[in-house]
Amino acid sequence: MGVPYHRQLADKQSLAARALRPVAPDVDWAAPFASAESGYRNKAKWVVGGDGKNPSIGILDEHREGIDLRRCGICEPALVDAFPPLVEFIARTGLVPYDVNRRAGDIKYLIVTASPQGELLVRFVLRSLDRLHDIRRRLPELQSVLPQLAVASVNLHPEHKAVIEGDQEIVLTEQSTLLMRLGDVNLYLGPQSFFQTNTAVAAGLYRQAAAWAARIVPDSVLDLYCGVGGFALHCAPASVRSVHGVEVSADAVSGARRSAADLPDPDRFTFDTDDAVTGRSDADLVIVNPPRRGLGATLADRIDSGAARHVIYSSCNPATLAADLGRMPSLRAVEARLFDMFPQTAHVEVAVLLERR
Ligand SMILES: C[S@@+](CC[C@H](N)C(=O)[O-])C[C@H]1O[C@@H](n2cnc3c(N)ncnc32)[C@H](O)[C@@H]1O
Repeated sequence: MGVPYHRQLADKQSLAARALRPVAPDVDWAAPFASAESGYRNKAKWVVGGDGKNPSIGILDEHREGIDLRRCGICEPALVDAFPPLVEFIARTGLVPYDVNRRAGDIKYLIVTASPQGELLVRFVLRSLDRLHDIRRRLPELQSVLPQLAVASVNLHPEHKAVIEGDQEIVLTEQSTLLMRLGDVNLYLGPQSFFQTNTAVAAGLYRQAAAWAARIVPDSVLDLYCGVGGFALHCAPASVRSVHGVEVSADAVSGARRSAADLPDPDRFTFDTDDAVTGRSDADLVIVNPPRRGLGATLADRIDSGAARHVIYSSCNPATLAADLGRMPSLRAVEARLFDMFPQTAHVEVAVLLERR
């Protein structure tokens, strides 16, 4: 922070180019895709701290006391506007912030996502379900001051461990998914599904992948780590006979299936809840967008020795991207582009188009 934005972009571009140079010396870099410098983040994952009368939302300091970040400049305005009524709701409902030292209290985290249309998905991460009834009872009050609240849920997180949510989700509203409309593609985001952090940059990333796919004219597309289907649904020009997505989150797969059902030709699309590492890896065009750990040797080897003529690899970690490209010597990186998904941080998203040698 404090670094002028054009310098941030130039620094990230040279960091990404340096990381890929040993494994992709001839790759052609397009101009970086820039972001709004502030107000870009569509999701806030706050620790709830303070006390029952005066909750804070933000992070914990070194004494595990809450630091309030409700005016954080990287959050979308729709989130910042929603924080005060949400904190007020927590206080009025009498939810006691979880005390990490004493391992007591009701609410651990508040997770809020905003759609491009300004609607909200709000999740209360609770230590137990003791207060579920109170939240449910008071929800209409919250909806009256926050009419843009489309989906509300409680996540049960009974364990004392360094992850921010548990497995069980209880949806409190009639609507269970947040509609994220990007151009003419409807993406349905459930509480436990991943979505790219920066909606405008995500839309640019999908458009770039779509432009590559339109040029390649693939017969079949496989989208590994597909989430709610952003790449699959954008990279399906009419020439594509079949589009298949694989994703470990059942919540995300059900969103992707719903999106496909909105299309005039839904039969071309299939989505499975599966492990991308052990499932199928062959198609004319394979798209991969793994978490920070990358593909790893097993999957990279299978793609390298498989039938894909082209691969699109979108990565949020240049180090694992470079390691994976090094594991795929039969595929040559031809084009790359940096997407500034995370301004004011050192993080980058890089998309690379590979073709078989
Ligand atoms: C970086 S996100 C990409 C999501 C999606 N491509 C998008 O654009 O929103 C990575 C996704 O991989 C999923 N995932 C993590 N490990 C997986 C695995 N072994 N097999 C399949 N999906 C996995 C996560 O649930 C998450 O949705």
